[in-house]
Amino acid sequence: MRIALSTGGGDAPGLNAVIRAAVLSATSRGWDVLGICRGYYGLLGEDQILSLTRNSVRGIAHLGGTILRTTNRGNPFAFPVRQDDGSYIEVDRSGEMLANIERLGIDAIVTIGGDGSLRIAQQLHDRGVHIVGVPKTIDNDVSGTITTFGFDTAVNTAIEALDKLHTTAESHDRVIVMEVMGRHAGFIALHAGVAASADVILIPEIPFDLEVVCEKVRARDRSGRHFSIVVVAEGAFQSGGEQSLMGDSLPGQDKRVGGIAGRLAWQIQERTGKESRSLVLGHLQRGGSPTGYDRLLATRFGGAAIEAVEQGKWGEMVALQSPHIVTVPFAEALREPKRVDPSHDIVRTARAAGISFGA
Ligand code: F6P
Repeated sequence: MRIALSTGGGDAPGLNAVIRAAVLSATSRGWDVLGICRGYYGLLGEDQILSLTRNSVRGIAHLGGTILRTTNRGNPFAFPVRQDDGSYIEVDRSGEMLANIERLGIDAIVTIGGDGSLRIAQQLHDRGVHIVGVPKTIDNDVSGTITTFGFDTAVNTAIEALDKLHTTAESHDRVIVMEVMGRHAGFIALHAGVAASADVILIPEIPFDLEVVCEKVRARDRSGRHFSIVVVAEGAFQSGGEQSLMGDSLPGQDKRVGGIAGRLAWQIQERTGKESRSLVLGHLQRGGSPTGYDRLLATRFGGAAIEAVEQGKWGEMVALQSPHIVTVPFAEALREPKRVDPSHDIVRTARAAGISFGA
């Protein structure tokens, strides 16, 4: 049996722990393991194909990033090709990829990625490729699995930052607005905000009213708490308004949400008279060594992916449905993205504790 591993989409702490567990589990079965570099680029002659052995993965479980590197612009069915005039066209290079899978004698692919990678995996499965998925994203927005590795590490990075912001905000009687990642989901903001005792948590799933946010700041001021911590998900937006979009996406990339924190801090300062500052935690949430929780979950996912290959569970992804790791068909996982449920106990308890969601 010869299998090939691929990591696609935004990186996440824990990827290397998945790769290590998959390589060790596969080689213990006497299988051959290849590593496709940079998403599927390695299968399109645009990057390397590595041979992965026990030695290749020695000591990488605690390392952030991915030894295979990754891309979020590598869809073989819509491959971005730059034209002489600087514009891009999208070319279907899936035929070339399928031919290379055949030529390399690859029996199965394990793709480690988020919803974008899983959507490509579904198309490859539909064309007869033996493929198994491992859900990966710091956003935790993949349905079918309670959580994805990378999420716990990102939340802890945000908590650490919010703890630091409390001391400086209180020292200056300031409002500090911190923007966190999550794309169209608010899980990072919600979990980090509650755990770090934020005063306001703004998420895409609960469109907010700016006046409600400002009234929370004023009420804290009146009660003698002259500072406020606001954590805002990058995809959050005012009711009746739109998400804030960054202008830097390249062809083949999703439009990036973000840039809300600076404007929100200014609006709060304008309306409340409270000095306000903002920051964007950005890619710090994607880096660093995975937490113990993420290393264990990633290791479990890697081992379970090899078991899924052994059982021929093509077109399925491993998933955490506590206390077990199961497999879920791509179609089920992709039917609709996972979002924060505004009636979830975390939201209810946060509200009861006095946290405002701006609505
Ligand atoms: O999907 C993971 C993620 O980190 C999102 O939370 C974020 O919006 C996006 O990727 C950033 O993408 P890039 O790494 O291309 O800037």
